[in-house]
Order: sequence, then structure tokens, then C-alpha cells
Amino acid sequence: MRFISAAATAAVTLAAASGLVAAHGPESKSEVREFHDRQKTMYHCAPQIAAYNAQRRADWSQKVLGGAPLAAKKYFVDGGYKENQVDPADAAEIMACNPITETKIRNSSCVLAPETTEGPYYHTQGHLIRSNMAEYQLGLLFLMNVGVIDVETCEPLPNVLVDLWHANATGYYAGHPTPKVGMENEKPMATGPRRGLMSAYPRTNEEETWLRGALPTDSNGVAEFTSVFPGYYTGRGTHVHVKVFPEWDVLPNGTFTSTNLIHTGQFFVEDALNVEIDKIHPYNQNPLLAPGKGGRTRNWEDSLNIYQDSHDNGYMPTFDIEFLGGVLQQGLIGYVTMGVNTKARYEAKWTPESGRGGVVSQVPVSSETKTEL
Ligand SMILES: *[C@@H]1O[C@H](CO)[C@@H](O)[C@H](O)[C@H]1NC(C)=O
Ligand SMILES: *[C@@H]1O[C@H](CO)[C@@H](O)[C@H](O)[C@H]1NC(C)=O
Ligand SMILES: *[C@@H]1O[C@H](CO)[C@@H](O)[C@H](O)[C@H]1NC(C)=O
Repeated sequence: MRFISAAATAAVTLAAASGLVAAHGPESKSEVREFHDRQKTMYHCAPQIAAYNAQRRADWSQKVLGGAPLAAKKYFVDGGYKENQVDPADAAEIMACNPITETKIRNSSCVLAPETTEGPYYHTQGHLIRSNMAEYQLGLLFLMNVGVIDVETCEPLPNVLVDLWHANATGYYAGHPTPKVGMENEKPMATGPRRGLMSAYPRTNEEETWLRGALPTDSNGVAEFTSVFPGYYTGRGTHVHVKVFPEWDVLPNGTFTSTNLIHTGQFFVEDALNVEIDKIHPYNQNPLLAPGKGGRTRNWEDSLNIYQDSHDNGYMPTFDIEFLGGVLQQGLIGYVTMGVNTKARYEAKWTPESGRGGVVSQVPVSSETKTEL
């Protein structure tokens, strides 16, 4: 069965959201349940509410700042909302949380995003289909606007499943909280293909799902995710993993299975921004910032060379970032566009002993496609 995002067509009103403003927190079991339901509603409405807020902020800046532009205003101009005023009909539409139709793919040149490793932290069948993958993780609000284009036509590619996973603010993946027993004091490898890296943390918690989520692209070839800005760990620049699936089956618990894979990649963030975010709590609690722990790895020093290799053919694997508000702490939106080959079929195999010391070898099923870089 081909899955089409049902969540995007659910209609909810902002009345539910205003109910959130309560004098005290939820107490009884039913109150807690209701609170969670409302929170989910809020998540679903978040892009519309953010757009509406942005519009009001733009109006505010017009009045208070004499029209000085806000970063957020720039972002939502593409959204089809009027520059200076919300038409009541548009407002009604925004408040009704209609399907997200306003997103437009960011146009970069039409280049194939190179295949990279899925790394050791992918969970087969583990990811939920959802837009908000933050759960209760602390960090900077980070919206990811991921566009997919077909490299053969340079047209946006609707209805492919974009699957993301990344580390939390202090560098851990859901399900992998601790080093292997006996490896607690391990130092990064000094030489060889794993130079700069440490052993992968084993999956010891099967339940955790945070900062992992998959969503089909809309008619504009865009999937939008809400998350927290990722942290980093030994040997790697800050990155977000991605897979793209052309077809998938939804399991009763909201996760999916898929046999075909058309892309595996990683997105990065410019170092200049990374080092600013490193100063903010909880990013400044990253264990690697403790004396003698080595600190952050810059993109150009990435131990797996993924950032470096990804620049082949002029592809920029970095998010194009804008502030959501007037200051960094109000959060960020990152745009990135991937060119994929729809005729490609990869099979990702996690073979820790293979080449490059533990990266996944991706077997192209079609001879037309590139092999792993
Ligand atoms: C991106 O821009 C190029 C050059 O302006 C254009 O030819 C191409 O159709 C655009 N692609 C998308 C996906 O908008
Ligand atoms: C990241 O996850 C680890 C492992 O679950 C946890 O110990 C740490 O507190 C988390 N970081 C933040 C900022 O919540
Ligand atoms: C969902 O169900 C599948 C199949 O039973 C299972 O393998 C997976 O662990 C479940 N995932 C979650 C997040 O519950």
C-alpha cells in the first residue's frame, strides 16, 4: 500500500490551541491525556501558526521598526501570505490548519546528492511517520525544510518518503545512550580508516524514538520537520542523516517498512554557526567540550570525509539557514534540496568490518547509479 500523509489533511482549529493556556498544569490522568492530545494538535498546526505569527511579527516590525525586515518575514514571503496584512479569508484558512501547500522547494542547481553512509545509528523499521520528531529533547527549535528533486527532470518529486535521524543537543542518538561495556574510556582511533572516530555506541534502549522521523514530500516535493538543532560527537561534524524511499508500507504502530531505497545522504551546517550554537545551553554541555576531550570536529576535518566528498559535482550538503526570530535562541529554519535519481535502487547494508572501517556499503541495484563515495 502506498501511504499518503493523512495527518496533513486532518482539520483542526486553533480553539484547541487556546485551551492550552491554563492556570495550572495537567494533573489527573485524563487531563494529562487531553494535554498530550492538544500538544499533538499544536504540532500539526505548528507551521500554520508559525506563518500566522510571522505575519503578525512582520506587521509589528512595520509599525515598530519602521518596516525593518525580519528574517522570519523573508522566510514566509514564499508562503503566499500577503506582505503587510492577512486577508480575513487567508487567516481563516491558516487557522483551519489546511494541508501545507505553501511550501516551495529551494532551487539549487540540479545536481545528484552523493550517496553517503547511513552509519551505525539507523534503526530499520524504527522510525515513525511524523513531522515533529523533537519529543522531549531540549535544544534550539530547528525546522528542516527538505526538498527533493528528480535529477533527470529537475522537477520537484512529490510523495517520496524522507526519513531523518540525528543526534541530540549533547551528541547522543535515541536508543544508544552509553558506550560499549569496557569502552568507557576509549580514545579516538589515531590511524587507519576510522581515524578520529570511536566505536559506535550499541543500541541498548529499544524504546527510544526521539529525533527520528519520516514524512512524505508534498506536491511541491517538500517535507517539513520540526526538531531540535543537532549536537555532535567525536570525529564528526554536526550532521543530519537522510534516506529517501520511493514506496513504503505503514505498520500499525505508525512506523514503516520499505525495501527500496533511492538515496542515503547527510546534511551539514556551516561551522561558523555551529560554533555560536556551541555556546548556548544545552549545547555547551556536550561532553566533548570538557578539558582534554577534543572538542568539536569542523566540517572540513570530518573523519569520514563525508562533508568533503559531498562537494563533488558542486553539491552543497549544507542547510541554508535563517533565523526564525530576531535572535538565535528563537530558533532556526534550515532549507536543503536533494537531487535524487528515481531509477536508482540501493540496498543499504551495515557491515562494520567492510572498507572505511565500519561504514555502510550501499549496493546499487541499478547499474545507472553511482556507487558509494
Ligand atoms: C531552478 O533554476 C533553474 C535555473 O533558473 C531552472 O532551470 C530550474 O527549472 C529550476 N528548478 C526548480 C526545481 O525550480
Ligand atoms: C541526549 O541523550 C543522552 C542519552 O539519552 C542524555 O543523557 C542527554 O541528557 C541528552 N541531552 C540533552 C540535552 O537532553
Ligand atoms: C513497530 O512495529 C514493528 C513491527 O512489529 C516493530 O519492529 C517496531 O519496533 C515497532 N516500533 C515502534 C517504535 O514501536
